[in-house]
Amino acid sequence: MSITNILVMNGPNLSRLGKREPEVYGRRSLGEINDGLVQAFPEVEFGFFQSEHEGALIDKLFEIEDHGGCSGVILNAGALTHYSIALRDAIAAVKVPVVEVHLSNIYAREEFRHRSVISEVCGGVIGGFGVQSYHLGVRGLLGMLAK
Ligand code: DQA
Repeated sequence: MSITNILVMNGPNLSRLGKREPEVYGRRSLGEINDGLVQAFPEVEFGFFQSEHEGALIDKLFEIEDHGGCSGVILNAGALTHYSIALRDAIAAVKVPVVEVHLSNIYAREEFRHRSVISEVCGGVIGGFGVQSYHLGVRGLLGMLAK
């Protein structure tokens, strides 16, 4: 069985999961969410990266693009989703497929969250399923990579 490498990237404020607005984002910490992925997909080699900074996420995308070893990315860009043209352009600039995920259903929330500037350059978009959004994202990405 060959190993697939997936990088799970999380943007600003997602380090606060579990404590931050639990009624919206649930009670699980980011570490617990990541551990759940490792348990659910033993055939996948995961890397995890979280940053509060736009540029650090962009640097990471270019690092995996230039150094390889990563087949695809699961990205919860947090609020950057809604306005970061720089992140959008970085996703468009890399060959590795990126799947956009959100814990909440951004279309059922404030109007400013209804627009994602990154969806257009992502291979797929999943939102509204809480922690399961990450799992569904991995499933979708694996299907995409198998093609
Ligand atoms: C989020 C939705 C964004 O609107 C918000 O800024 C986040 C989290 C989600 O996972 O539901 O930080 O990406």
